[in-house]
Amino acid sequence: PLALILTAVLSYLLGSIPFGVVITRALGLGDLRKIGSGNIGATNVLRTGNKGAAAATLILDAAKGGIAVLIARAVVGDDAAQVAALGSFLGHLYPVWLGFKGGKGVATFLGILLALAWPIGLLACATWAVTAALTRISSASALAAAALSPGYLAFAGYSDMVILALLLAILVWLRHAANIRRLRDGTEPKIGKKTAT
Ligand code: G3P
Repeated sequence: PLALILTAVLSYLLGSIPFGVVITRALGLGDLRKIGSGNIGATNVLRTGNKGAAAATLILDAAKGGIAVLIARAVVGDDAAQVAALGSFLGHLYPVWLGFKGGKGVATFLGILLALAWPIGLLACATWAVTAALTRISSASALAAAALSPGYLAFAGYSDMVILALLLAILVWLRHAANIRRLRDGTEPKIGKKTAT
């Protein structure tokens, strides 16, 4: 139990590093929380116009979830890998450094899935990419990838990970409440744009 508690605390702290905020501030691009949707993720970093900063945010926000899972599995075991997944994800959503006002968890979700079950992680990334190619909307792509991932895990025989993935997917959807309203109203901006149309 001590190892699992340590895993939870350390992975939460890793997950709570808000790379989008850190990178945009370091590059002098402003306060991310006052730009676009105000979200701290790569999609919103792209609204600064800096593609490199957005790519770095995507990779690092995914990597912090993936690395937490890989280290926990190597050092402690499979149960710890799931604890690390949840810990790093909750760290991103509720970071202590930002008054617990964090992100929507999409990149971190994908990084976690890649580390837990890489074929399913790739399938989730492909789902995001196909939806993005069709709609050019980041939130719609995230909602599709999150919704389908627990099903992918179940069908591919990763039954021990389905509950965790379901929980993460529900949290991703809840964090997208404002996006879902804009999608319904037709006002959700396309990738890279600040407003719709
Ligand atoms: O990764 C979050 C994305 O799905 C939506 O971001 O900034 O458009 O709310 P944003």
